[in-house]
Parts: sequence; structure tokens; C-alpha cells
Amino acid sequence: MTNLELGNFGQDFLWGTATASYQIEGAIAEGSRGRSIWDTFSHTPGKVINGDTGDVACDHYNRLDEDLELLADLGVAAYRFSIAWPRIQPDGTGSPNQDGIDFYSRLVDGLLERNITPVPTIYHWDLPQGLQDKGGWKVRDTSYRFADYAGIVTEALGDRITQWITLNEPWCSAWLGYAIGVHAPGEKNIADAVSATHHLLLGHGLALQKMRTLTDAQIGITLNLSVVRPASQDQADTDVARLVDGNLNRIFLDPIFKKSYPADLVEHYGGTIGEATKEDLDIIGQKIDFLGVNFYFPSTVVARQNIDKARSNGLYVDTSNEPNLVDADFGSAGVHRMGVKRTAMDWEIEAGALTELLVRVHDDYSNLPIMITENGCAAHDYVNPSGEVIDDDRVEYLESHIQALSNAIAKGVDVSGYFVWSLLDNFEWAYGYSRRFGIVWIDYETQRRIPKRSFHRYKEIIAATKEA
Ligand code: FCB
Repeated sequence: MTNLELGNFGQDFLWGTATASYQIEGAIAEGSRGRSIWDTFSHTPGKVINGDTGDVACDHYNRLDEDLELLADLGVAAYRFSIAWPRIQPDGTGSPNQDGIDFYSRLVDGLLERNITPVPTIYHWDLPQGLQDKGGWKVRDTSYRFADYAGIVTEALGDRITQWITLNEPWCSAWLGYAIGVHAPGEKNIADAVSATHHLLLGHGLALQKMRTLTDAQIGITLNLSVVRPASQDQADTDVARLVDGNLNRIFLDPIFKKSYPADLVEHYGGTIGEATKEDLDIIGQKIDFLGVNFYFPSTVVARQNIDKARSNGLYVDTSNEPNLVDADFGSAGVHRMGVKRTAMDWEIEAGALTELLVRVHDDYSNLPIMITENGCAAHDYVNPSGEVIDDDRVEYLESHIQALSNAIAKGVDVSGYFVWSLLDNFEWAYGYSRRFGIVWIDYETQRRIPKRSFHRYKEIIAATKEA
């Protein structure tokens, strides 16, 4: 256990944990829920490790009270969850399904009774299959459908919500879903991913517009951002690093904060991102109240022609598979630095990169408050013979990242909250249940919950900041 400098976190700092609907709820046929693209994808053989699906997951839908008690015990100030669009509009359009509204209403009330601020994410990847059948995020109409849906949930819950998040990680929706194909809907086409990027952002903007007419709450968007570094100062490496950084970070930050798409990416994608017009960019670039940032790991990239050189410089390049479409398009490959520890996802651990990232966002884009809406790690957890989960790797990961956050605050970044991913072990998308991110262990056979050592340590940290 490390001694953390907690003095930089004010009394109203939002310590929290995060989850997402498809990853924890299960109960896919209850409450007149419709199908989502993740139901279809996870039930398609070969898409998810072990053929796992979210059919049952943590059965959170039926164990809401028990999970609320866990949050109360942890002492968090806030809880970030997502609303399953197909519970609210089973096929993605039309009038709201009351059972779906009632479920999230009970969740919100249960949080408020325990003095926990609910922070709902309106879209965390479970697009109604009915909309995918009409083109999903490839088509502009989905942006308008998203705004309608955002209006419905704002009307239903808005009297009790002070902070909303429109989208979670549009990069993953667009690029993992429509180009790399490892997430639902599992398509592989660069031009479609470019369109999806624009339609997601437009959906965010249209939702903002709609929501502003219904609520005075704070509204933000969550992006997965990172630090992207070239493997060497060779021009080819710095060029691919610039493009990869552009595709991950700037293609979202520029339109949101500068009402334009980055010129190098526009050029790379043949002159346009989606069919973006000036009007669209005005909608996307409306004022938000905070930026949500999900941070997990920094990246290092190499130009494919320099792979051998990178290897001889002691960098580890995984070229066991054919490059995915995005790497092939940029002529890039991901590189691991020797000696840098990695999580059970194989993601490099470097907490200082979080400080670096936040300072960059602050300097290049905005001094709006930033909420770390996800941070955490998968570890090789197990229940020991005494029935405990001693996840010291995760404790170390969380401590070092909380310290990195404190360092960013000391450098002038306004950070308003931190949400550990995740409260519970859960369905980790294409990895199914094979990767555990929770600070609470889930025994999937019995649905028993066991708070891990990281849960107890996080509880101590939260309590210590309250006393400070
Ligand atoms: C993020 C997702 C979240 C979870 C973590 C590990 O990209 O938003 O649902 O899977 O990664």
C-alpha cells in the first residue's frame, strides 16, 4: 500500500465506480427488452471468447438491491451506469417501454436514498438491433433516433439527474464495430467507420440540443483518449503516430472543442469525415459542461516498414496476426516496450501517461472540468482458500493512477471525479468473462459477490479524502 497525496481532491470530488448495461444486467428477455447488436454479436459463433454472452451476466437486473448495498458500503459519492436503449425503445423508435423506465427509475431512487449521485450514460454500445438493420451508425438517421431516445430518458429521469453522459467511447463504437470488426456489429469497412464517427458525434450534438430544452443538468461525453508515441524519431514512425493519435484523440476532440475535423485526417480519408457540413459541426461543437475521459494505457506505434528496426531496438511487435484494417490503412503496428508491466489485457501500465494526457487536453483544448469516467485493470484474480481475493496488482494500479490524477490537478487541470472500472467483474465484450476488471468478484455459478482487496483499499482512500 502506498501513501497517496490526497490533499488535491476537494470535498465535492466525485469518487465513484462505473458499469455498463449489457456487461452486468443479464435478464435480456425481461421487462419487454428488445434485442441489441450485442445480443446478435455475442450469439454469433466465434465472436466472443468461449461463446460467452450477456444473457445472464451479473444478473444485476434482478439483484439491484444487493448491488446498491455494495455501493453504499464502498462509500462512493457517485455511480456511473448506462441505460440499455432496447429496454427503453425495444426496436429503437417510438414510445417508451414503461418497464424499462421503471427499472432505471428504481436504480436512480435507490442511489439517491443512499446519497449516491447517479451518473447515467445514455449509450454504452447496446444499439437496438432494429436500428442496425436499417444501417446502424453508418446512416445519419440513427443520429436523430439517438436524440429522440436521449429526450425520452431525460424526460423520465431528468428530475433526479444532475450529470448526464451522452455517449461512451464513440471511437470503440465506430472503429472496433465498423472497421476492425471485433465489436458489434462486427463489420469491416474503413469508410463506414468514418461515417459512423460522424454520425455518433452528430447524435451527441443533437441529443445535447434536445436535452438542453428539458434539463439544466450538466451534460458531457465520454471519450477513450490516450497518449500515442512513435517508436522512434524516424519520420515514418512519427507520421504514423500522428495519424493514430488523430484517429483516436483529435478526430473527436477537434469537432467537440473547435468545431472542425483535423485537416490531416480529413485528407487521409479522402476529403470528408462522414458528410459533415458546417451546420453539423456547429451542432457537435455546442458547449458541454464537462469532458469524460476513460484512460487505461499509453500506446507506442511503429511504421510497418520499421518493424525489424523496432525489434532490434528491443521493442516487441506483435505481428502474429494479419494487421487489422485500421493498422493496414495507416501502415502502422502496435509496439510493447520491454520491461513495462502489462495487465491481464496485455495493456501497458504507465500511470504517468494519465497526467501527460490530461495536461495535453487542458493545454490543447479546454479548461473545462474533466471526469475520469473509467480507469482500472484486468488482473489474474482468484479466490484463495480463505475465500478472499487478494488483488494487489489492481490495488497498485488504482493507487498509481489516483496519484497521477493528483499530479494532474497540481499542474492546473480541473478534475471533478474518478470512476473505477468496474464495480463488478462483468462481460468484457469480445473477451467474455475471461477478463475480470471488478473490485468485486462475481462467482458466475452462484452470482455470489465477494469484495476484493481493491474494494477495501478504495473504500479507505475515499474515506481518507473525506477526513482530509
Ligand atoms: C472500455 C469500455 C468498458 C470496459 C473497459 C475495460 O473501453 O468502455 O465497457 O469494457 O473498456
